[in-house]
Amino acid sequence: MNRDLTPKEFEVYGTRLIKDLADFFAGIEQLRVLPDCSPGDFTSLVDLKLPIEGDSLENILEDTFNKVIPYTTHWNHPGFMAYFNSTASFPGIFAELVTASLSVNGMLWKSSPAASELEKITLDWLTELLGLPRIFFGIIYDTASTSTFHALAAAREKLVVYDFRNEGIGGEGCPRLSVYMSEHAHSSVDKAAIIIGAGTKGIRKIKSNAKYEMIPEELEAAISADKALGITPLAVIATIGTTSTTSVDPLLQIAEICRRENIWLHVDAAHSGVTAMLPEKRSIFEGIEFADSLVVNPHKWLFVPMDLSVLFVRDKDNLKKTFSLIPEYLKTGTDSVTDNLMDYGIPLGRRFRSLKLWFVIRYFGKEGLSEILRKHIGMAGEFVRLIESANNFEVMAPVPFSTVCFRYVKSGRDDSTLNMLNQKLLEFINSSSRIFLSHTVLDGKFVIRIVFSGIKMEIQHVNTAFNIITEQVKKLEDNK
Ligand SMILES: Cc1ncc(COP(=O)(O)O)c(C=O)c1O
Repeated sequence: MNRDLTPKEFEVYGTRLIKDLADFFAGIEQLRVLPDCSPGDFTSLVDLKLPIEGDSLENILEDTFNKVIPYTTHWNHPGFMAYFNSTASFPGIFAELVTASLSVNGMLWKSSPAASELEKITLDWLTELLGLPRIFFGIIYDTASTSTFHALAAAREKLVVYDFRNEGIGGEGCPRLSVYMSEHAHSSVDKAAIIIGAGTKGIRKIKSNAKYEMIPEELEAAISADKALGITPLAVIATIGTTSTTSVDPLLQIAEICRRENIWLHVDAAHSGVTAMLPEKRSIFEGIEFADSLVVNPHKWLFVPMDLSVLFVRDKDNLKKTFSLIPEYLKTGTDSVTDNLMDYGIPLGRRFRSLKLWFVIRYFGKEGLSEILRKHIGMAGEFVRLIESANNFEVMAPVPFSTVCFRYVKSGRDDSTLNMLNQKLLEFINSSSRIFLSHTVLDGKFVIRIVFSGIKMEIQHVNTAFNIITEQVKKLEDNK
């Protein structure tokens, strides 16, 4: 029967593990980005019997490197250019090791003073880094989906027309709610709207312009139509960096409408918000001082390992009113601290996530982080140049950050044929296993997305990606 390791054994295995991981990172470019497997292949490879006597750490580590890692999609691979990448910098990985070693639960200040206080310190840094006005209270959750849900719950708490917390959904006078977002908002916003009680029928997808940005006049019209029907507008979500194209909704104009109509404004800047640290991108947050809440995900484009999302709210007390519920066994007695992190969200238990943000911001500093973001934005510019200089591609949306939407074109082919060809091209590209791209659909057109945001990406990876894409186009054309 196994006992836990001694500190000495921890050191021996830990040293070996770090060495093996360093080798993994050193050779990551030689690995496939997407593993070559089908559902169930991995399960068929590992021992499914419940371990009764415990196994040796040698066996566990061997299986990790020989079975788990080969069956993993490598988000840290420089060829991972799909979705919005989350990559782990080495300082961030070290912080995770410390977090796991401490295994603190930051629910109360008393349960981890450093975790409680470092959360505030790092979010003050993030506020300064992104040039945000010092009017927000920040709190760390796992994902943007959770952050946006908390924002909409707080918006509902603030409604004066009905007391949701006490009356519950369906009490006398319970209003029908509506939530407004552009047709390009992330699905996490829809989910939050459904869960807080607006229902899918309360979701208003506002039309966007040719640059995929929400049209403020359409928003105003939708709000007026709802009010005329007696529906209560709960919140408007402006997205800074939509998932498909990274388009930026006109925040200031939307904020003016929200102010006039007294509607909660939530800003989803989960991926692209970090670029506000660059003076040349600061304007993406023009009007942010009027927002009620804002989400930014350092795990997306700030090289903090999964997971870490930050919600900023203007009204701290309202967030506390929404989520605070203190049972006897968590009362802090004579403790002078009344402000505990457990009061600001659904989970009671909280990981010490701020440590990895602290490591990353401290290690890279504003200058280091800015340089990497600028490099990624420059890489996207270079990719656009390559695509535009070839005569068989089309850039399908403006490129405000480092995501490029493009498609293969051939004269005489209609959109439905091109959709089929681009779908096939994407399959070819991804089956090459050297890069991994994803797709979206814009105005009925199948579009390939390439994202440059990984910590391990360098300018040569742009050329590699372009060469792989053109090789696969040739294969596509030869195939016909
Ligand atoms: C704009 C935007 N908001 C929210 C999300 C959801 O992020 P999370 O996975 O952290 O919930 C995404 C995911 O890509 C996104 O692109």
